[in-house]
Amino acid sequence: MEQFIQALLNLWPNVPRPIPLHQPYLDSAEPFMKACLDSGWVSSAGHWVNQFEQQLAQRLQVESVVAVNSGTSALHLCYLAVGAQPGCELLMPALSFVATANAAMYCGAKPHFVEVLEDNMTIDISALEVYLTHITEPRDGVCYNKITQAPIIGLVVVHAFGHAVDMARAKTCCQRFHLALIEDAAQALGSLYQGKPLGSFGDVAALSFNGNKIITTGGGGAVTARSREILEKIRHLSTTAKITDAFSIAHDAVGFNYRMPAVNAALGLAQLLNLDELLMKKRQLHDYYQQHLSAIAELTVIVEQADYRANHWLTNVILAPELQINHLSLLEQFNQANIFVRPLWRPLHQLPMYHAMPRMPLLITESLSRRVLSLPSSPQLLDQLLV
Ligand SMILES: Cc1ncc(COP(=O)(O)O)c(C=O)c1O
Repeated sequence: MEQFIQALLNLWPNVPRPIPLHQPYLDSAEPFMKACLDSGWVSSAGHWVNQFEQQLAQRLQVESVVAVNSGTSALHLCYLAVGAQPGCELLMPALSFVATANAAMYCGAKPHFVEVLEDNMTIDISALEVYLTHITEPRDGVCYNKITQAPIIGLVVVHAFGHAVDMARAKTCCQRFHLALIEDAAQALGSLYQGKPLGSFGDVAALSFNGNKIITTGGGGAVTARSREILEKIRHLSTTAKITDAFSIAHDAVGFNYRMPAVNAALGLAQLLNLDELLMKKRQLHDYYQQHLSAIAELTVIVEQADYRANHWLTNVILAPELQINHLSLLEQFNQANIFVRPLWRPLHQLPMYHAMPRMPLLITESLSRRVLSLPSSPQLLDQLLV
């Protein structure tokens, strides 16, 4: 056991401590920030946000995107756009950041938790189909939960740590059960599924650019949608539902102040320039981990599957189930060595506000939450390891 821990602690020779989990890479930010400040357009008006939206849309290979102030607000708008409202349910993995569920609650909808795969921590679509066959029935083209009698309106797929959900099967499942398909692509910018960017597959999709994401705008997010009309509704809602008129200030719905400010968009423009370099560095760092950990029988590195290319936002390892070690004590040893390794989220159904929500059996979710660790994955770390 000691040997196993020592092998892990020796993964970063000569790298100065502390080693953060994920540091932003801000090399080209300064000229963009200065230009934005000099322009005087620091809030949501002006060209910066539009420009960021255009470049992001190009990157995602979609016609258009809406930039907002967080991934959470992006999810909120996505759920509203597919009709989330009080009394309905949204299927989603119990293994995700809390925002995936919180945004459903903002709409008055209930999260309904589903199981994930051991291989890459994304939704187990086969198990979900079996489950839905048992607990749902269609009525007038709507999927109803036979136990709660609530309509289930959509499936939220989370591309965990940039690993792709099987989107072909997710789409078929959604068609079969009359569900909207929502991508929580908060962690997935730069990942490709069958050669196409994640965040471009769902009826709607949400991305995040918070401080620890592969690119950051400080705080921020974005929405894509298959339908132009829906995306324009989302844009309208994100800007307080303001009616564009030079001579009056009016609003035609209860909207939100969710639009991304220009200073964040300027930072985003600088970051987008680095995205390919960041993806390359992360892939190399991931390969380094894989190489150096392959001889350690007590753990497995989570790797991409055949039909997608992951962005390797954070590299994760799964401790073997038979390993007699509490992952929290392992975390403490890393912490004491000033190496910031992170545990997985506590499964959402185990959080007090979500105890009573509907769910399928979640044995793999619960097991993974005790066995997965995220390794330091800053792009700068690669350079430090290679000196
Ligand atoms: C899977 C997932 N969904 C949603 C979010 C919410 O994004 P934000 O922090 O930008 O609100 C995050 C962010 O950490 C996330 O990891």
